[in-house]
Amino acid sequence: MKFLNVVGARPNFMKIAPFQRELERRGHRFELVHTGQHYDETMSDQFFDDLNIAQPDYHLGVGSADHTEQTARIMTRFEPIVDEYDPDWVIVVGDVNSTLATSLVTAKKSPELAHIEAGIRSGNRDMPEEINRIVVDRISDALFCFDDEARKNLIEEGISEEVIFLTGDIMIDSLQFALENDQSPQSDITLPEQYGVLTLHRPSNVDEVDTLRRAKDVLEHVSEKIPLVFPIHPRTQKRLKNHNLKEQWEKFLKILPPLGYTEFLNVMSNSEIVLTDSGSIQQETTVMNVPCLTLREETERGITVRRGTNKIVGWNEELILESVEKILEGEWKTAEEIPYWDGKTAERIVDQLESI
Ligand code: UD1
Repeated sequence: MKFLNVVGARPNFMKIAPFQRELERRGHRFELVHTGQHYDETMSDQFFDDLNIAQPDYHLGVGSADHTEQTARIMTRFEPIVDEYDPDWVIVVGDVNSTLATSLVTAKKSPELAHIEAGIRSGNRDMPEEINRIVVDRISDALFCFDDEARKNLIEEGISEEVIFLTGDIMIDSLQFALENDQSPQSDITLPEQYGVLTLHRPSNVDEVDTLRRAKDVLEHVSEKIPLVFPIHPRTQKRLKNHNLKEQWEKFLKILPPLGYTEFLNVMSNSEIVLTDSGSIQQETTVMNVPCLTLREETERGITVRRGTNKIVGWNEELILESVEKILEGEWKTAEEIPYWDGKTAERIVDQLESI
């Protein structure tokens, strides 16, 4: 079988790496397309090194733009590759604009389309990712889910059970691989003995100056309880600079450049607490049993709340400070094992694809 695999943005790389390793192990042919949605060394190349992914066979170089422009650029540059390579399957992961754009092209052509991390829903259509998820799942020919809730969401939306597979969380395959094969040099970042990690990049949290001001007040109070380190996303960096807020923020937390995959996992696993608006980090903290406060109003990863270390706190200062105190006093919940989050997801996905 012949596969064309797609990546574009930072959270895609750890989802495609284990899949490609499994294809290679079984002798399947595949090529990799990188759309170039993320292009900085720290947002892209570093992940190829850390995850041992071969250089992409095609690089579309689309770069940043608004959603319409970015999606359109990816579509026009991706189409000739599908025609030329003519794969049996196109494999897309996650919910970024690159996932949507390449799915739309594929669905109107002869290859089959498979979506890894299908079926998750936040219920919030103001999130661009939610629109991407709904559309990609609707037009996919095979859907691989990380938990039973995702599987049920798809069934409720009228998708045939025959094309939905509960195969587990492929990111855990990468997490295990990275921790077992960590050959990264000693980090040159100096960290306090005890610290919390902050990540923030959702447009709903960082695009408006009022939200940033509110965030600053809350985070400053958290930092009085535990020092915070903040590997900053380029979007957030830009916004803080534009609003002249960067200096203010630097006064109460340690801003770091975006970190590579292995380095970030190490920083996170040694932390007392993670505050984040990321999706993937909710999963990773649950597996590493690190307490996580999600700075959003909802999550598409409810299992990390029900069975993991995650709590949804939005920007509710009282709830956040109360939670931080509990965590620092060692009174937080510990994660249970989650079925199929065991590092063997890529194997199960390729088994299914071979049998379809
Ligand atoms: C994208 C995804 C989001 C994911 C996030 C992870 C969509 C709709 N959003 O959001 O789901 O959680 O990636 O990082 O696809 N930039 C750089 N260098 C880069 C990449 C981006 O400087 O390598 C800057 C640019 O100014 C760009 C901005 O970051 O305009 C946002 O990038 P973009 O890819 O549009 O969205 P993200 O916020 O990264």
